[in-house]
Amino acid sequence: MINIKLDGKDIQTEAGKTILQVAKESGVHIPTLCYHKDLSPTGNCRMCIVEVKGGRFLQAACVTPVAEGMEIETSSEKVTRDRKLTLELMLANHPMDCLTCDVTGECELQDLAYEYRAKFPEWGTKGKRYQIDSDPNPFVRVDMNKCILCRRCELACAEIQVRDVWGVAKRGFSEQIVAGAGTNMLEARCESCGQCVAYCPTGALSNKLNYGMALAHQVRKVTTTCSYCGVGCQFDLLVKNNKVIGVSSNPNSPVNGMALCVKGRYGYDYIHHPDRVTKPRVRRYLLEGKKKEEIREQIEEKRGKPASDTPSAWDWVEAEWDVALEIVAEKFRMIKEAHGADSIGLLTSAKCLNEENYLMNKLARQVIGTNNIDHCARL
Ligand code: FES
Repeated sequence: MINIKLDGKDIQTEAGKTILQVAKESGVHIPTLCYHKDLSPTGNCRMCIVEVKGGRFLQAACVTPVAEGMEIETSSEKVTRDRKLTLELMLANHPMDCLTCDVTGECELQDLAYEYRAKFPEWGTKGKRYQIDSDPNPFVRVDMNKCILCRRCELACAEIQVRDVWGVAKRGFSEQIVAGAGTNMLEARCESCGQCVAYCPTGALSNKLNYGMALAHQVRKVTTTCSYCGVGCQFDLLVKNNKVIGVSSNPNSPVNGMALCVKGRYGYDYIHHPDRVTKPRVRRYLLEGKKKEEIREQIEEKRGKPASDTPSAWDWVEAEWDVALEIVAEKFRMIKEAHGADSIGLLTSAKCLNEENYLMNKLARQVIGTNNIDHCARL
């Protein structure tokens, strides 16, 4: 253990931790932009600078380890002035379109500019330098005019998704985040998981599918579990006027954290799709309580040609759940009576909950009386 002083308070902590970690553990707020707990720290943005007694420069708290006897000031006048200047330099390279920006309300740069009363500099901003919506990716909207070069997109892609789509090109004022050495995201092996969007602190990377549909304060977040596979990832559905308009990562998800695949993050349009099947469907002849043979005879009699040309009796038609389930139960009973319980097999699904799969097991073994039950995850 080592002893340090943080804002005048004596603290005992472990060597090797960063100033930021120790401050967090002690309940001291240090602002950050390029830092994210899921990613390797890079010390790029210098928002987290602190004053270390005896040091020649202000130190970036996210990459500076604590050392025995360190005396740290996290919000001295010098530190606050420097952070504000850093923010104003970022704003000088930032479009002044917060009023119409999709990320307003959840933009970390906006929050910090507000906290430090940083202004768009009087000498003006650089304005539009890059094409807006510059990448053909169908899900990710790229507007590098809003990029603050924090590199969180690059790290999220490399360290979490392991795709290395993003990189840094050029140097100095021309420095720029680019996909695939200047090609485009898909050509750079992007799988459209949207991790880069989830970690972007500004509107440089945002979601194309719901762009312009709602600001952060206009949506209600509903935490749910993804229904696509059995991993059990959680995320938040963004709901506006009782309609799901998007998905955002929920950092508290126990299984996946912020990570999602393309299906979980962008495959939600089926929810309100007009073609979505929301009621069970059964063959028409079953609904009418007739036997297949009876229907076939009727049709043949009426039309004088084979039933295969007149398939209406075999059409799928909507039915109430009770009716559909009764038909299924009756069919199972008939098959069991005629051929035995082992003539029936049940295949369960990774898209169901554990509890639902458990119930299917009970249905197979105890109700139907067969051990023929399996799960699609074994295929
Ligand atoms: Fe530490 Fe960016 S948060 S340098």
